[in-house]
Amino acid sequence: MLQDKLGRPLQDLRISVIDRCNFRCTYCMPKEIFGKDFSFLPKDQLLSFEEIERLAKLFVQLGVKKIRLTGGEPLLRKDVTTLIDRLTNIEGLEDIGLTTNGVLLGKKAQALKDAGLHRVNVSLDALDDDVFQSINDSGVSTKKVLDSIEQAQQAGLVVKVNMVVKKGMNDDQVIPMATYFKEKGITLRYIEFMDVGQSNGWNFDQVVTKKELFEQLTNHFELEPVDPAYIGEVAQRYRYIDMDTEVGFITSVSESFCSTCTRARLAADGRFYTCLFASEGLDLRNLLRSNLDDQAILESIVPTWKNRKDRYSDERTEETAKNRKKIEMSYIGG
Ligand code: GTP
Ligand code: 5AD
Ligand code: SF4
Ligand code: SF4
Repeated sequence: MLQDKLGRPLQDLRISVIDRCNFRCTYCMPKEIFGKDFSFLPKDQLLSFEEIERLAKLFVQLGVKKIRLTGGEPLLRKDVTTLIDRLTNIEGLEDIGLTTNGVLLGKKAQALKDAGLHRVNVSLDALDDDVFQSINDSGVSTKKVLDSIEQAQQAGLVVKVNMVVKKGMNDDQVIPMATYFKEKGITLRYIEFMDVGQSNGWNFDQVVTKKELFEQLTNHFELEPVDPAYIGEVAQRYRYIDMDTEVGFITSVSESFCSTCTRARLAADGRFYTCLFASEGLDLRNLLRSNLDDQAILESIVPTWKNRKDRYSDERTEETAKNRKKIEMSYIGG
């Protein structure tokens, strides 16, 4: 089995299919930076579906069991259902998921399900419409996303909701969100605000830790822990007592989970990264377009994983958060 320097196998691949997004979340793609003049990747620099499928097959040969499609906003990529259809036919791949902001999900849910998708994670940072609109900065209402979630469920997709919590931005939404999604029987996961990229002005003081979130929640609800479904699961899970409904915490800042990190990332332009906080990636698009055979491409990927030592969140300090060159979330896909 292929393992990195810290004994971690390669099991999950997150594929960003586009670096554009129809939101301008203030903590991810602030308008001042991602404005009209920002140069996103031109179409010919994105991996084609053929190229993604070829790489996905190679990664599955190396041990990948789970693929997650991300963006930017993955549903902005034209005909993304065709890609899902291709990926579901890869032998040995056990699970495909997609992470979306939900705007286009209602319209596309049935087609996604028909293409073979099982699960979607929908990002929603507030229930209150004013708070939500001031975060997404794009005039999209909570109703739009909530309706999409219902349509996705009706189409038979399993939905989880992701809420990034940032102090002063939406910490008053923690309980309203829990109340709403508990009632709906949907898993809500609180994500600690992370120092991804160079544009979100992150500092430790803005992080609402799992400990703080848990205290707030247990003032209102009784929770019991749920064992991880597999080693290396990103979220710490809890269940509302006497119910099947769960709530989770993604604690990259306060309780990092690098020691079991089995995730690799493929950016929309085919660069391969071994950590969300990596500065450099391996240019697989160049290899693909140099007409190399599969064996030659594998010979580049294997040593990259074997040499992997990344454990950024274990080592994070105010200093590294500020000074390290990091790639943007919208490009690497979260
Ligand atoms: P599931 O398969 O449903 O568990 O998906 P997921 O939680 O792995 O994916 P999702 O795209 O919903 O990500 C939720 C949050 O976890 C996002 O903020 C990601 O950036 C973060 N995340 C996922 N993997 C990692 C990781 O390896 N390191 C860090 N630091 N954050 C991660
Ligand atoms: N910290 C934590 N999560 C983030 N996301 C985007 N930016 C950040 C950040 N700085 C979340 C999105 C989405 C997931 C892929 O990552 O809201 O749910
Ligand atoms: Fe918001 Fe996600 Fe788009 Fe970033 S990629 S701006 S977090 S919707
Ligand atoms: Fe994995 Fe890097 Fe996240 Fe640690 S910081 S869990 S090594 S992606």
